[in-house]
This record gives sequence, C-alpha cells and structure tokens, in this order.
Amino acid sequence: MLSGRHRLRVIAPWKMAWTYVLAAAVWIGVSDVVLAKLIGGRNSWADLSIYKGWGFVAVTGLALYLVLKRTLVSIQESQEALARNGNLLRHILKHNPSAIAVLDKNMRFILASDRYLEDSFVPQCDVIGRSYYEVFPDAPPHWREVHKRCLAGSIEHFEEEEVRYPEGVVHYLRWECRPWSGPGGDIGGIIIYFELITERKRLEEQLRQALKMEAVGRLAGGVAHDFNNLLMVINGYGQLLLEEIGEESDLQRSRVLEITKAGERAAALTRQLLAFSRKQILRPRTINLNSVVTELEKMLQRVIGEDVLLVTVTDPNLPDVKADPSQIEQVIMNLSVNARDAMPSGGSLTIETAHVQLGEEYVRRHPEVVPGEYVMLAVTDSGHGMDADTQRRAFEPFFTTKPSGQGTGLGLSTVYGILKQSGGHVCLYSEPGHGTTVKAYLPCCDPAARLDAEEHTLRNLPGGTEEIIVAEDDAGVRAMVCEILNRLGYRVQAVSGPREALAQCRQNKDTVRLLITDVIMPEVNGIELARRVHALNSTIRTVFMSGYTDNALLHHGVLEKGIDFLQKPFTTEALAHKVREVLDRTS
Ligand SMILES: Nc1ncnc2c1ncn2[C@@H]1O[C@H](COP(=O)(O)OP(=O)(O)OP(=O)(O)O)[C@@H](O)[C@H]1O
Ligand SMILES: [Mg+2]
Repeated sequence: MLSGRHRLRVIAPWKMAWTYVLAAAVWIGVSDVVLAKLIGGRNSWADLSIYKGWGFVAVTGLALYLVLKRTLVSIQESQEALARNGNLLRHILKHNPSAIAVLDKNMRFILASDRYLEDSFVPQCDVIGRSYYEVFPDAPPHWREVHKRCLAGSIEHFEEEEVRYPEGVVHYLRWECRPWSGPGGDIGGIIIYFELITERKRLEEQLRQALKMEAVGRLAGGVAHDFNNLLMVINGYGQLLLEEIGEESDLQRSRVLEITKAGERAAALTRQLLAFSRKQILRPRTINLNSVVTELEKMLQRVIGEDVLLVTVTDPNLPDVKADPSQIEQVIMNLSVNARDAMPSGGSLTIETAHVQLGEEYVRRHPEVVPGEYVMLAVTDSGHGMDADTQRRAFEPFFTTKPSGQGTGLGLSTVYGILKQSGGHVCLYSEPGHGTTVKAYLPCCDPAARLDAEEHTLRNLPGGTEEIIVAEDDAGVRAMVCEILNRLGYRVQAVSGPREALAQCRQNKDTVRLLITDVIMPEVNGIELARRVHALNSTIRTVFMSGYTDNALLHHGVLEKGIDFLQKPFTTEALAHKVREVLDRTS
C-alpha cells in the first residue's frame, strides 16, 4: 500500500515529455496573439521576442522547479517508506512464532526469527552476516545438498526428520526450504522454515499407547470374564470328579488332578488379566505405603535372593493413600521380581516412598494424569535395563522378553491395571546397561475426610479404659496401633522390643491387662515374650500380630491353636473387636 501511494506521486517521464510538448505548442501558437494584445502595437517584433523568451524561461523554470521538487519529495518519502517497511519486516520476522531464517546466496544469515534461534539451540549470539555452516557446523551433511538444490530454484521439504543435536539429544523436525528472488528475478538466497515436532510426536505416541492399552484392556477383560465362568465349571466339576474317584484309581485320580491344577493355573492367569483390565473387586482402605513396604521387606529379601542388596528409603512424613493393601503388595512384588530377573548376577534393589506434587509441567508430559498430591513408590534396580522397544511395550499383557516358561508378560500389565483402578498411574525409566526405575503414583488421601471417616468409625466401635502394652519393632505400625487404642479410650504404653515390654510389665504388673505383640521381633520372639509376661502375672492376656497368615505360622509350629491373633494389615474394626473380645473373655 505504501509503495503504491508513492508510485502515484512520481510523474512518469512520458507524461512530462507530452506535457512539455503540449505546453510549448500552446505557447508558440497562442503567445504571439496574446502578447500582441497585451502589449499592444507599440512594440516591435524584437521586443515581443524578448518578452516571449523571458516568459518561456520563467514558465519552463517554474515547471522544472515543481517537477524536481515533487520528485525529490517522492524519493525521500520512498526511502522513508522503504526503511519503515524494512523495520516492519524485520520486526515481524524476529518476533514471529515460527522458526524462519532468510539467507543470501552465499548462505549467510540476513534475518532469523527468535524462535529459529531458540529451536536451533543456538546461544543468543548474533548470527546475522555469519555463514550457516559456521553457525551449525554439525548440521546433517545432506542438508548442504538440499541448500544447493534450493539455491538452484527447487523447493525442498521434509515432514519428519530425526536430527541428533550436538549434546546427543534427538529431535524431530518438519522443515521447508524455498528460494527467494531479488528485484531482477534472480535467486537472492533461500528461506528456511522449520518446526520442532518432538513434543507433538511424544504426545501422539502417548495417546496411541493409551488407546492401545485401553483396547487391549477391554479385550482382555472381556475374555477373562467369560473365561472365568468357564473355568469355574471346569474346576468345579474337576473337584467333584476328584471326590467321586476317591483313592481307588490312582491313574484316573492323577489325571483329574492334572486337569484341576491346570484349571487353577488358568484361574490365576485370568485374575491377572482382570487386574490389567481394571475389573477386579478392590477393597480399598486408608493405608500408608511405608507400612506396606516395611511389612514386605523380609519377604522381599527372600524373593530377590542374597546376591541382591535391598535398600528401602521411606519418607517419614508420607501421607496415606486409599488402596487395596493386598493389591499394592502385588505391585511391589511384581516390580521386585522383575528387578531380580534383570540382575542375574546380583546388584541393588531400592524401594523408595515419597510425597510428591505433580504439577502442570508433569501433566503436560503425561496428559492422563490429574495434577495434585501423590504418594510415589519407586522401585529401582541396577540391572540390564530395557531398550526403547521393550520400554514401549513393557505394560502390554503377554509382552515378555523372557524365555518361554519363565515369564508370562503379565507382571507389569497387572501393575498398570491395579494403579489405574486405584486412581493412580505408573511410569518407567530405563537405561540399557544401567538399570530401571518404575514409579507408581497413588493420589494422597484427603486428611480431613480420612479423620472424619475414622472418627465416625471409632464412635461405633467397642472401647475401654484398661491398660495395654503394645510391643512392635516397626515404628509406623506401633504408632498406628497406639493411636487407635488411645482413641478408643485405653491407656497405652508403646515399646519397641521385648526387653522394654518385659520391663514395663514388671513395673506395672498389677495394672496391665493386655499385651499386644508382634510375633517376629529381634532377640526374643513374641511367643517367648508372652510366656515370660504370663509368668509375671497370669491374668495379663496377649494378642499376637503378624504379617504372616495364621496358617503359615501354624505350619511352622510357632503358634498353637486357640491363640489370639491379628493378621497384618488389620483394620481398625478388627483391632477394636479383638481387644475387647480378649479383655472380656472370662476364662
Ligand atoms: N526391571 C526391569 N529391568 C529390565 N527389564 C524389565 C524390567 N521389568 C520389566 N522388564 C521387561 O518388561 C517385560 C515385561 O515385564 P512383565 O513383568 O510384564 O512380564 P515378565 O516379567 O516377562 O513376566 P511375568 O511378570 O508375567 O512373569 C519383561 O519381559 C522384561 O523384558
Ligand atoms: Mg514380571
């Protein structure tokens, strides 16, 4: 628009020539008659010619002056407009949200947008005037050919190119190169446009993965559901047959036994599939992951073997989460078994808990996550790690890299399903040759809602005022048991080991009514402690707590039948009822 206005002001040479010819013709034709009339007959022709001459000079001079003035003004205005346009163009280009650079035919930068420099990871230096190849010495070699073709007039583009940046980081680019023409129509250089599509590609991949997991989950859930019903029939009739066959026919019996064993294995697989497809029946409770980890520690050490060092790092201020404790145990177990398998010649396994805040930045990278406060459980091993393809597929059901018979490929998919169903999520970090970390996140419980719920439950539970000693070496469990008992009205003394428990009982042997003790403790076990306490005062009763099932304990011959036992993890209700029941028992 600006340049259009200027073109109107600059008078075209042919117009000036015509105007001059016309004016001269009019002057020659008209001036004699007009001058003769104006001056009258007193002057001679020579005088008239002088007037005519001077008049011509004056008129031509004035016309020249006007034309020159107008031309000079126009040139000045054009120059100003050019400068203004140049500045505007530079401004638009510099602050353009796209990555654009203009180069001359010697591949020297004329202009570059800030975005171009930013996305090229060029330090904020002035690239203008510098050669492209000097600024980007590590540019992919085939780009030189692209630039040459472009300078010869071709338009080049690439929808998705993987480029390794100098620090080794891989990015994906969509780019286009096209020539630009100078005033004479010759190619003056090239314009490079590009877009960093790494983030978009990552999100697309994530979405694809999520959709795939969703579809596989739906399929697995459907199959598992129908399969479960069939298995119930197979296993049910298998059991009936076993009973009918009795002991007479060993051969038939062993065959039916094989059928029922296979049926049970199939049922276990189906359960895992249901877990993956988030179709299990969960029994969520308010739990603290530290307690779950601590309870599992001994068992885990046995599972991972002696060559693997088990380290647990628990956050002392970890908030509670709402989840099914047995499912969370399953998560820790599956992750630990995977870690063990990744370290055939030993290494270290770290289980860590932490209270984390997942903010906008995290959610941008994991769109399926709701921002907020989470409890993180990280399981890290120093094993062989996973390559990119294994990482991408690790959560798929039946994906395994283990030899046939050693892995079903359902471990991580079960973890995935359990966490999703509990409102959490899981992610994986792995470096081939260095190790793997799997991080599971569960949303924190709303502490106010939890207290309300607990108060409500506690009001409806049986309590008392008797004196109770709680002996437990796990600080988390000890604090939790004492808090519940206190709230139920009991007078509680907490001790961390059998020695202190005995000392307390000796001091207060006439007032203490009950001992609640862990079965497995350092130095003296709970059974022995109960026996010694009983020796001090036979009216002091005992309730045992343990993470092992009573069957397992009975199997090892540790506990006798008829003992009072609470299997960890126990509920507030179970504790309240058991304590009251034992205290109220008459015999
Ligand atoms: N900690 C780890 N280190 C290295 N690779 C791992 C780790 N965890 C999982 N993987 C890889 O992911 C695959 C899938 O794991 P997943 O637990 O789902 O199945 P699996 O361990 O092969 O079999 P299953 O758990 O059913 O016995 C494994 O085969 C292995 O290749
Ligand atoms: Mg596994």
